[in-house]
Amino acid sequence: MNTPDSAPRPSLRSQRLNQITNEPHQKLDALVKAHKPFDQVASFARFVVAQYLFQSELKALYTDPALQEIVPDLPERCRAEQARADLADLNTEVPAPVAGAVTSPSKAEALGWIFVSEGSKLGAAFLIKRAVGLGLSDTFGARHLGEPAGGRAEGWKRFIRTLDGLDLSAEEEADLDKGAVAAFERFTVLLEHAYAAEPELA
Ligand code: HEM
Repeated sequence: MNTPDSAPRPSLRSQRLNQITNEPHQKLDALVKAHKPFDQVASFARFVVAQYLFQSELKALYTDPALQEIVPDLPERCRAEQARADLADLNTEVPAPVAGAVTSPSKAEALGWIFVSEGSKLGAAFLIKRAVGLGLSDTFGARHLGEPAGGRAEGWKRFIRTLDGLDLSAEEEADLDKGAVAAFERFTVLLEHAYAAEPELA
């Protein structure tokens, strides 16, 4: 998001989050592409392993009743099951959990993680088009990249409206940022882990 130079900080919380995650996002985007996930199905399967691990680590947050009070459709937004089905489509074993998953984050920190997971659905619109080139789709192998019920843009806008409308303390704002940055770091770890498990594809 563009903010005029004269503005000391973005007025909207979501804009601030976009700003602070811009660099980690660019790096992760480059890292994903460096693994050439769309060159062959086997490489795409490693990407799905990372997505599955990330989504399953976040399942506890997506199903947290306190967070659901803030975002009512939160459980339906989780893509762990779609990613698991993708793994089965791709004849890929469900990976063992990887040490270092987020545990008991504060509510605001959890929302930072969810911001990143939800935001990744926007990039998924581009990624699924490439997956189609591998013979995959939102009903086979690339389900987790599919259009969410109710629409991709709409789902994102609703989430952002809710996030921007919350009354947060300064400490909670800092926790939100912390969660978002940590989510990018974690996805990076999981991506490297997924490709390290198949060295010939790294
Ligand atoms: C785990 C987190 C994320 C991953 C792995 C991820 C991955 C990617 C990748 C690989 C692309 C490039 C697609 C292409 O060029 O074909 C992309 C694009 C995009 N992502 Fe993400 N992303 C993540 C989080 C986010 C977040 C938090 C947001 C929004 C706040 C976001 C918004 C976008 C948008 C709008 C695009 C398309 C245009 C652009 O590159 O700016 N993503 N993402």
